[in-house]
Amino acid sequence: MALRAAENGGVCGAELSKRLGLTRAAIWARVEELRKVGYEIEASPVLGYKLISTPDVLHADDLLARLGKTKVIGRDIRVFEQTTSTNDVVEKLARDGVKEGVVVFAESQTKGRGRLGRVWTSPTRKGLWFSILLRPNLRPQETTQLTVAAAAAVWRAIHSVTGLKPEIKWPNDILISGKKVVGILTELSAEVDRVKHIILGIGVDVNLTATEFPAELRKIATSLRIESGKPIQRAELATEILRELDRDYARICAGKFPALADEWEEHCTTIGKQVTVGMGERRLRGRAESLDEDGALLLRTEHGRLERVIGGDVTVEK
Ligand code: BTN
Repeated sequence: MALRAAENGGVCGAELSKRLGLTRAAIWARVEELRKVGYEIEASPVLGYKLISTPDVLHADDLLARLGKTKVIGRDIRVFEQTTSTNDVVEKLARDGVKEGVVVFAESQTKGRGRLGRVWTSPTRKGLWFSILLRPNLRPQETTQLTVAAAAAVWRAIHSVTGLKPEIKWPNDILISGKKVVGILTELSAEVDRVKHIILGIGVDVNLTATEFPAELRKIATSLRIESGKPIQRAELATEILRELDRDYARICAGKFPALADEWEEHCTTIGKQVTVGMGERRLRGRAESLDEDGALLLRTEHGRLERVIGGDVTVEK
């Protein structure tokens, strides 16, 4: 946003209309719109417009301006006040033929969903609830690469914004102090040997306080605010995640998944541990050894066999 660039000084209406190619009346209307959603903007005949403070709301223009130019992810950003699930919105955009890279955020979701049919609690303005449309040239079995990349990218973004050092639990949970803080839901539309599109849905518990979690989740879920002891600017974290994801997506499309997998393994608490993986009715016990080239988990079972696991619910044994 042009106002952000001049955060310490003001910027006059004429300059803004030249820079943005908008009339002065249109600039005024934009400023009014921003004020309505909580931006504090001073307007003076001498200094012009001056940004005093930004609210903790997500605004597409603001996110786009913070993000700057990316290769694919975040070229188009849309923010909804409320949706059922951002994955549903993106599914519809995919069917309408929208280009890959579009990101849909919602300030709250009424039917946020997690893996294995679970409910994902998404209270208003407390977290980042968003989905990304991708159309990679991958085989269906390679799409776990994207989940792995997403976890690595979110790890880096959380670390750089909060200084915290989360742990990754295969395939797609991010935990702090053993409690879940991020979940990733990858939904796939594919033919036998070709991916049509992928929806990467990411939920980050950012500013929830303990009592804002449903009672049954308090022992197993946490937020960045609880863990860092201070509220986090969601827009800053959101753009950092998108920037990191854009970088990783380019790496995957260029066939550089192995380097990403190494980084992921560094932060992963599942590797090297004795685990049980639940896959529907089936249970598999063994030692998590590493990821293979597609992002699947290689598990050495009690009988010494190496099993390739592409999905399921992992419990790490203490
Ligand atoms: C999980 O850990 O079970 C995955 C949780 C994924 C939650 C996100 S929030 C944004 C997107 N929309 C949804 O309905 N789910 C994902």
